[in-house]
Amino acid sequence: MTSALVKRLEGKVAVITGGASGIGECTARLFSQHGAKVVVADIQDERGRSVCDTIGATFVHCDVTKESDVQKAIDTAVTGHGKLDIMFNNAGIIDAGKPITDTALSDFHKVIDVIVTGAFLGTKHAARVMVPAGRGSIISTASVASVIGGVGTHAYTAAKHAVAGLTRSAAVELGRFGVRVNCVSPYAVATRLAVEFARIDEKVFEEAMSKFATLQGTLLKPEDVAMAVLYLASDESKYVSGHNLMVDGGYSIVNRALLSFDPSDLASS
Ligand SMILES: NC(=O)c1ccc[n+]([C@@H]2O[C@H](COP(=O)([O-])OP(=O)(O)OC[C@H]3O[C@@H](n4cnc5c(N)ncnc54)[C@H](O)[C@@H]3O)[C@@H](O)[C@H]2O)c1
Repeated sequence: MTSALVKRLEGKVAVITGGASGIGECTARLFSQHGAKVVVADIQDERGRSVCDTIGATFVHCDVTKESDVQKAIDTAVTGHGKLDIMFNNAGIIDAGKPITDTALSDFHKVIDVIVTGAFLGTKHAARVMVPAGRGSIISTASVASVIGGVGTHAYTAAKHAVAGLTRSAAVELGRFGVRVNCVSPYAVATRLAVEFARIDEKVFEEAMSKFATLQGTLLKPEDVAMAVLYLASDESKYVSGHNLMVDGGYSIVNRALLSFDPSDLASS
């Protein structure tokens, strides 16, 4: 017997940045299945349009570092669907992993611009329409790199820590208007961003990352992150705000170096 899907976002309107691929695309598909009207905002026009065609969403060309583009994406949702309930600031990039002394200022700026400025502009323009409405859910994609060092480049780690900070700061201000602000922090997912950074193919990436994972017997997929975002977007999380939801299988709560410590090694030396 098949049970009908309970539509958890029926009647809601969402904007998703970076929705043309990876975690954003997967979230756009899931939101759509759950009844939301979705606007995908991305710089990959062809891919973004084709995702939108398959799920009945609207595509807007939007570079999240440009305020007029972000403003246009939000206004497209409001003009087309009358309101905005969910803003998902998800667009992201990463620079090549280099020692700090070799990291070019321009590369550092690029990452900060897409991740931090992007989340800032998305939050700002979502708040512009959510505050008068007295409701809304703003979610950003942070990372395990938002709470620990050594799992991304310097720029990426700084940027993701900033996203967690912006989330908390905005949650404090916007709470009194009924607007919730949260972020999600995934461990490694085999998306284009991750496999291009690691310069290995998807399968090898997943296998390698699962070796370092805390939670064993399963792999982290874009769908798992999308499910966490769905929870934060839906009314099921109506009293959750200022939260950084770790989707990391417990990766960030342990220093793995100590797990291999065996006191008998000391006794025998
Ligand atoms: N893949 C991982 O392991 C992982 C882990 C933790 C967090 N994240 C975060 O997840 C988010 C999504 O990344 P992904 O892994 O799905 O990679 P992805 O490369 O598949 O998706 C990133 C999307 O962002 C878009 N984008 C990049 N620059 C943009 C800009 N200036 N304006 C608008 N859109 C832009 C890209 O076109 C792409 O569609 C990012 O914020 C990333 O940092 C990824």
